[in-house]
Amino acid sequence: MPLLDIANVSKSFGGLDALKDVNFAVHQGQIKALIGPNGAGKTTVFNLISGSYRPSAGRVVFGGVDLTRKAPHAICRLGVGRTFQHSLVFDGMTVLENVTVGRHCRSKAGVLSAALSLPLHRREEREAFKVAGESLRRVGLEGKADEFAGNLPMGERHLLEIARALATEPKMLLLDEPAAGLNEEETERLAETVRRIRSEGITVLLVEHHMGFVMEISDEVVVLDYGRKIAEGPPLMIMDNDEVVKAYLGEALE
Ligand SMILES: Nc1ncnc2c1ncn2[C@@H]1O[C@H](COP(=O)(O)OP(=O)(O)OP(=O)(O)O)[C@@H](O)[C@H]1O
Ligand SMILES: [Mg+2]
Repeated sequence: MPLLDIANVSKSFGGLDALKDVNFAVHQGQIKALIGPNGAGKTTVFNLISGSYRPSAGRVVFGGVDLTRKAPHAICRLGVGRTFQHSLVFDGMTVLENVTVGRHCRSKAGVLSAALSLPLHRREEREAFKVAGESLRRVGLEGKADEFAGNLPMGERHLLEIARALATEPKMLLLDEPAAGLNEEETERLAETVRRIRSEGITVLLVEHHMGFVMEISDEVVVLDYGRKIAEGPPLMIMDNDEVVKAYLGEALE
C-alpha cells in the first residue's frame, strides 16, 4: 500500500479545471517530485493533500486513511507536514520561535489554557521548544536558534521553514518550491538536508522548477500540464519524454 494515494482527483474553480482526473502514489521512503509549467496545478495538489481544498472528485488517501473530508489540523496530526510556496517566516521572531509555531497542530491546550498559563499549556510549551530545537538541529540551523529570522539569508529561511514542518512530527513532508531563489551553494545544502531527512524515514513530495535539483534528488517524477498528468517515472525517463519536453522542459531548459 502506498503511503499517499492520489486517486482520480479533480479540482475545479468555477469553470476552470485546475486538476483533472489525476492519479499517482508516493511510497514510504521515496523522494518524489511534482513538476509542470506555471498554473499546471502543483500547489493545488498540495492544498488538496493538506486539507486547504476539498477535491471536486476523487480521493486522497494517506496511510490508509481517507483525507478527503478532514480538516487541515487533523491531517497535520496524521503526519503530513508542509511548507508554502510563498515564504511564511516571521522576521521579528527568533528562528526558534518561528519553528515552535509549527507545534500548533499538536497542541491540545486551548486558548484559555494558554491565556491562564495552565499546567497543560506550560508543559506543551516546554515540549514545543524541545521539539523545535531538535528540528533546527535536523536542518543544521541549531547555531541560529536565537537570531532574528529576518537576518537569515534565503537558503536558511527555507531550511527554517522545513524545520517548522518537521516540528509537526510528519511522516511525509510536502515542499513547495524549496529551491526557489536559492544560489547554487544553498541549493546543494538544501539537497543534502532533504536527503538526510529522507534517511531518517520521512517521505518527501516536492514541487520544484529547478530541474537540476529535481534530477539530482528525486526517485520519481510526476509531470502535470494544464491539470492533467502527462508523465510519471524516474528522472532520466522524464527528461527523454517528448510530451514533457514539449510541454515544459523545452521552455525550462531554453
Ligand atoms: N483558490 C483558487 N481559486 C481560483 N483559482 C485557483 C485557486 N487556486 C488555484 N487556482 C487556479 O488553478 C490553476 C493551478 O494553480 P496552482 O497554483 O496549483 O499552479 P502551480 O502548478 O502551483 O503553478 P506555479 O508553478 O505558478 O506555482 C491556476 O490556473 C490557478 O489560477
Ligand atoms: Mg505553485
